[in-house]
Amino acid sequence: MTLAAVGTPGDRRPALFAAACRSAGLPEPRLIPWTDVLRGAPLGLDAGEVVRVDSPGEDPEADALLRGAGAPARVGGGARWHRAFMAALRRLASAAAASGARILGDIDEIGVMFDKRLSHARLLSGGVPVPAALPDVDGYSALRSRMDEMGERRVFVKPAHGSSASGVVALQTAPGRVRAVTSAFMAGDRLFNSLRVRSYETEDEVAALIGLLAPDGLHVERWLPKATLGGRVFDLRVVVVGGEPTHAVVRTSRTPMTNLHLGGARGDLGAVRRALGEDGWRRALDVCARAAACFPGSPMVGVDLLVGFGLKRFAVCEVNAFGDLLPGLTGLPGSSAEGLDTYAAQVRAMSQACTT
Ligand SMILES: Nc1ncnc2c1ncn2[C@@H]1O[C@H](COP(=O)(O)OP(=O)(O)O)[C@@H](O)[C@H]1O
Ligand SMILES: [Mg+2]
Repeated sequence: MTLAAVGTPGDRRPALFAAACRSAGLPEPRLIPWTDVLRGAPLGLDAGEVVRVDSPGEDPEADALLRGAGAPARVGGGARWHRAFMAALRRLASAAAASGARILGDIDEIGVMFDKRLSHARLLSGGVPVPAALPDVDGYSALRSRMDEMGERRVFVKPAHGSSASGVVALQTAPGRVRAVTSAFMAGDRLFNSLRVRSYETEDEVAALIGLLAPDGLHVERWLPKATLGGRVFDLRVVVVGGEPTHAVVRTSRTPMTNLHLGGARGDLGAVRRALGEDGWRRALDVCARAAACFPGSPMVGVDLLVGFGLKRFAVCEVNAFGDLLPGLTGLPGSSAEGLDTYAAQVRAMSQACTT
């Protein structure tokens, strides 16, 4: 068996995957740069080669090919990103079919996971608990109308194709008041990602913010009040490999977004398990397994699981196609990945699938 990984040179993900392959005694995977796939360069795939698709990471060159030229720190361009990303994945799939190589995973499922509207609809129809969506929001006035119609005072507004909380807005309203919490920074009519979560509290600013995000497509859903741990809200990232929830981290935060780069911190999983109780913990993992089952062609997904205040309700806020970058985290005791990191667990599942 020969192995290849589509990724970005210098990114940690392909390096961690390669290390896991070496430890398992598998051949060193060849790195196919995302920029080659995006440019339509010949990929030289071999018959029987197994190709893993990883995240393009934060490579400015790949970003320019995906979103077009511009400041890498800007928010937006998601619609173009998704078109270019899917076109590249389709080229990869045709090249694989033509040469007899095999892509690990399903590119259409990756495409759905990178569209929060489609992903939400798929989870909903699969019976997975999700926060209620507010449909057809194409700007601020539509947003406020939908909120009025559905009696919602607190919602999350998310760019349909976003990740890493880029452009995500936690919005709350009260008569005569509005407050938008976001990591996006408005500079005139341009938006930038920042590492600081701030709030906009005038109607003009919030309307402008939503107006800048809307052209790339929005997914809006009810804000589920999150459970707290030591005075911070938390949720869970659960990695599901081959249908089995194998790894979990608690992400805690003082802001409504728990993404780790925004000041979120890993929390104490033991404390969360004790607070949920054996039955609650089992239900939490079951929701994640059911979310992953909505993407049966994907050997690994990273589920963002919201735990409601009161620890009784769970809801999936996102399923990530590339949600496995959790270096040093070993598998849940009792799972088949006990003692293995997320990459070793995937390599093990991959080797099993390739020999059966
Ligand atoms: N409906 C919601 N209710 C409460 N918190 C949410 C909701 N949706 C998202 N969040 C919070 O915002 C963060 C970012 O949202 P997410 O959908 O995961 O987008 P991204 O792709 O940017 O990570 C989540 O990690 C979660 O903490
Ligand atoms: Mg997320």
